[in-house]
Amino acid sequence: MSEGKHLIEKTLQNKDKNRRFYMPGHKGRPLLTEVGMTALDVTELSDTDNLYEAEGLLKRVEEKIAHTYGAEASYMGINGATGGLLTALHALLNPGDQILLPTDSHRSVYSGLAMCGANPVFIKPDISPLGFAKAVSKNTVTEALGRHPDVSGMVLTSPTYYGTVSEVRAIADVLHAHNKWLLVDEAHGAHLAFYPEGPESALSAGADIVVQSVHKILGGFNQTALIHLQGNRVDRERLALYRAMLSTSSPSYLLLASLEAAVDQGRTEGPMHWKAVDAAHRRACERLGEALYAEEHYDRSKFLLVFPGEGREIYRHLEAEGFLCELALENVVLAMTGMGTDPAEIGDLVETVARLKDKGFGQKEIAKKESFFFSVPQLIISLEEGLRRPKKKCSFGEAVGKISADFVIPYPPGVPCAVPGSLLTEELVAGIQGMVARGDTVLGVHHGQLMVSVPIGSESRSMDVSGD
Ligand SMILES: Cc1ncc(COP(=O)(O)O)c(C=O)c1O
Repeated sequence: MSEGKHLIEKTLQNKDKNRRFYMPGHKGRPLLTEVGMTALDVTELSDTDNLYEAEGLLKRVEEKIAHTYGAEASYMGINGATGGLLTALHALLNPGDQILLPTDSHRSVYSGLAMCGANPVFIKPDISPLGFAKAVSKNTVTEALGRHPDVSGMVLTSPTYYGTVSEVRAIADVLHAHNKWLLVDEAHGAHLAFYPEGPESALSAGADIVVQSVHKILGGFNQTALIHLQGNRVDRERLALYRAMLSTSSPSYLLLASLEAAVDQGRTEGPMHWKAVDAAHRRACERLGEALYAEEHYDRSKFLLVFPGEGREIYRHLEAEGFLCELALENVVLAMTGMGTDPAEIGDLVETVARLKDKGFGQKEIAKKESFFFSVPQLIISLEEGLRRPKKKCSFGEAVGKISADFVIPYPPGVPCAVPGSLLTEELVAGIQGMVARGDTVLGVHHGQLMVSVPIGSESRSMDVSGD
């Protein structure tokens, strides 16, 4: 039996046993049941329109979606928020442009900057002692604008993977007062428009352009995404051009149909559903106390369980009880709900967690994080040049003082500590080496080696920029 078939059969066998607290948001519940899947897998016909120059069916669907979200224009995508962010950045950026970029930005944002030949001015988000980047404050943005008045705009991630939110409205106001644009990576927030008890959506907070995944929390199939626009800071013609250039020329109608169905479902069932989830979260806060993360403005679709030093152990206990969670870190476990979550399952999860607390879990202190963990990358050459230059792999020791030619991303928490073009300091390399030795996952470490940049035309010479 093929590996893929084996995996599908295993998933089907456990279908009724396992409760899915991981993405995608449909949680395996049916979405497009009236017709067979292959019936929807068609191509551009006279009545199915063309995604990139929509004039009929797809135009009507996009207009309906824009109306639903209160956008001036919305565009469907089947390349994930990744594709949406790449498209948005190409519409906004020219070579040499600078933008404000919180260091917890998704890899696709760094990729977009590099592809456009633009450069980040890094700003630091607030960091939770639990070990993840939380939010960016208005003051941080105001201060950064004062120091870097020439930036053309800013990319902000809100809500985060962990459900924390930034002051989007205040940040949009500050940027607009300086005539700068705001692009919000709202990959984790396509449900906010249907969740009045939750944080304000980026569009209603005034963002110029917003990119959402439709698969993470709403019920769209993996890869479905939306770009929403308002105002006149984004060139729509240019956006349309890059959207077609950066996407497949054979968009899947199956994905598009799931996207439309997911937004329809969000509009019709979302408000009741998210109200129930929100209430379940508030009840769970009372039941679990500090073992459930919450703050005043928080996306309560996320159940972030707080168990300092025991995150991975709690994850395994929950897994053994049939609760498959999205993520385990050292101090937290993330259980993600979605449109497909049955609120009764949340109650079961909370009672299981309460029993683990009764058994004595949740008493430990928060372990201290290394200082390099959230350090701001020091760019020596641009991201683009860092990617383009010849590269070589070398040992940790050899890499000290060299320029990184790759993203180095510790998981957890997924924030890059080095990017193409940034300096690999002694402290950073020692930190990366320490994590690898402990068995942590660090993307960008290739069999115990780091990828470093080699000056053009001198591949064999070593390059030392320390002390510059
Ligand atoms: C904050 C953020 N932005 C963008 C993305 C990319 O989303 P997609 O998987 O839809 O391409 C992710 C994916 O996890 C994310 O967490």
